[in-house]
Amino acid sequence: MRKKLVAGNWKMNGGLASNRELLCALAPVAGVDVAVCVPYPYLAQASEALDGIALGVQDVSEFTAGPYTGEVSAAMVAEFGCGYAIVGHSERRALFREDEAQIGRKAEAALAHGVVPIVCIGETLAEREAGEVVPVVERQLAPVLEVLGREGLAKAVLAYEPVWAIGTGRSATVAQVAETHGAIRAWLANHGVAAERVKILYGGSVKADNARELFALDDVDGGLIGGASLVADEFLAICRAAAVVQSCIQ
Ligand code: PGA
Repeated sequence: MRKKLVAGNWKMNGGLASNRELLCALAPVAGVDVAVCVPYPYLAQASEALDGIALGVQDVSEFTAGPYTGEVSAAMVAEFGCGYAIVGHSERRALFREDEAQIGRKAEAALAHGVVPIVCIGETLAEREAGEVVPVVERQLAPVLEVLGREGLAKAVLAYEPVWAIGTGRSATVAQVAETHGAIRAWLANHGVAAERVKILYGGSVKADNARELFALDDVDGGLIGGASLVADEFLAICRAAAVVQSCIQ
């Protein structure tokens, strides 16, 4: 059985003083895995403050070491005990022009250092309106499979995040999430990946009051939480919603 994972994505938010407050207010929630993906400069602070909650980053370099100004390697973040690295977030795809093959190589670099990549996929509103949701996510997954191989992809976490739901307060509906997660898992199985092992998170305007119905879906193994992960009570309530659902399926 897959254990639910709730991962916070702080994005480019925080400061030493406000982080201290937020980190101190977080506590592990029994029965589920919890992670927070912080900006790089706060890795040391977060790794010291967190107990029973995994540490993650929001991106990682595809390169190992050398003349890549501004890049941060998987080996570096692993030294801070980092367990997860988000790769291919839609903000990085859109604003920093990351392409599919590069995202695959980032995931590969993370795995090579024992860091689990959280590979983000998801359609824009125009793509949804054109009825292209499944082809889009399949197009995003294919190059990642090509780079990681079946075994590698089975070790990754996927996060389905419709671009139009991110930071908008407008989550995808339960029916939309169920359909797309089902299609993603079917795609994995059809491509020889151990689909039952792969965690598929949903992300996009997850809040305490919609988390439970989303996490209760068969193919939803938790959430990637942006805005709500910056508010301790809200984030913990989302983690508890995951725990309630998890305890019902045990
Ligand atoms: P949101 O962001 O929860 O603020 O919509 C999710 C994400 O971008 O990972």
